[in-house]
Amino acid sequence: MLDFQVYPTYGLLSRAAADVVVSTLEAKPEAVICLPSGSTPLGMFRELVLRHEQGLVNFTRCTFVGLDEWIGMGPEEEGSCRQVMDQDLLHPIGFRAEQILFFNAKADDLPADCERINQALQQLGGLDLIVLGIGMNGHLALNEPGTPFDTYAHISELEPITKEVGQKYFKTPTILTGGVTIGLRHMREARQLVLLASGEAKAPAIARALRGEVTESFPASLVQEHPDALVLLDSEAASDLLQPGLS
Ligand code: PGA
Repeated sequence: MLDFQVYPTYGLLSRAAADVVVSTLEAKPEAVICLPSGSTPLGMFRELVLRHEQGLVNFTRCTFVGLDEWIGMGPEEEGSCRQVMDQDLLHPIGFRAEQILFFNAKADDLPADCERINQALQQLGGLDLIVLGIGMNGHLALNEPGTPFDTYAHISELEPITKEVGQKYFKTPTILTGGVTIGLRHMREARQLVLLASGEAKAPAIARALRGEVTESFPASLVQEHPDALVLLDSEAASDLLQPGLS
């Protein structure tokens, strides 16, 4: 079932997102959780770090799964997904290496690395919670439009808009050749899916994801068919949802 909530500010949206992560861990301390990098989740990360410091959440038994990575990048590269994640979440909270499952996007054999992730996830029993952002082209993680809904972790060719928008993570112009990503099937099979969006630029994509046709041409539309999906928005990201013709 698809549920969505609209918050007046990004701060409140971030708190609500952190609440979901905390509830998941309260119900199942050994949960397998997959969280995104990007700009949108930064407020949620700050909340989670704060709650960790206040002793309000215990991450010691969970498994953390990294959502995606740019090909050729790792923790040493400033702006990589892993670097952002290490800096803003994993190190402040003190995750142990054995709790973390992350792509090695520098591997010579990337298909084998994707298979390693797939097998590890299968052994873990799948994802209990996946939190996602949305691209303006409707991508989820680096699953670009046209990616089959039944794909597990895979190598992704990036659309020009993803390469362009991705520049915001780097201090200098950076050639983004592709990505490795958790697949849409992992998302569909996750026991709970949370989609976050903030800001007016995301409003058209959110309207299409929630109200448009469910189609592989717009990956985020899969949220409509997920058995337990929650979409958390600030009012700007929700601003196209009430447009006539989209009901
Ligand atoms: P953002 O990225 O959170 O930086 O907007 C989301 C995405 O492109 O999936």
